[in-house]
Amino acid sequence: MALRNIRVDDDPILRKVSRPVENLDQRVQVLIDDMFDTMYDAEGVGLAAVQVGVLKQVIVIDTGEEDEKMVLINPEIIASEGEQEGPEGCLSFPGKAGIVTRPNKVTVRAMDREGNIFEKTGEGLLARAFCHEIDHLHGQVYIDKVKEWVNRE
Ligand code: NI
Repeated sequence: MALRNIRVDDDPILRKVSRPVENLDQRVQVLIDDMFDTMYDAEGVGLAAVQVGVLKQVIVIDTGEEDEKMVLINPEIIASEGEQEGPEGCLSFPGKAGIVTRPNKVTVRAMDREGNIFEKTGEGLLARAFCHEIDHLHGQVYIDKVKEWVNRE
């Protein structure tokens, strides 16, 4: 188990754009393992590589639901519909949560850690996680989309 340091708050790397992964080499595989370890240790449901200081288009997600643990490499949103409004947080902004509007259903296309292209449709929390984490790859953070801050329990 290897934990990486999570970049937080006004760390400028959080505003930078991540590059596509071209080689699924050992460095990327270790990165993915470390990202899962780091995410679980921090009790998050998603983590983008930029949050551990690596500007590569790699995301890990685990909402806790069956079939909702996944690695997304070079992901893109190919369809979205509906709308949901709800509380959102981020491991890079500890102690905060805010209401953000997102599509309720989102389909992504991405590569898994073996290099297979897949598509996955998520609703509710998973759709929110797709949007939030893919935003990270574009240097965007949810705090800019909060319409109202909420107190975290
Ligand atoms: Ni985040």
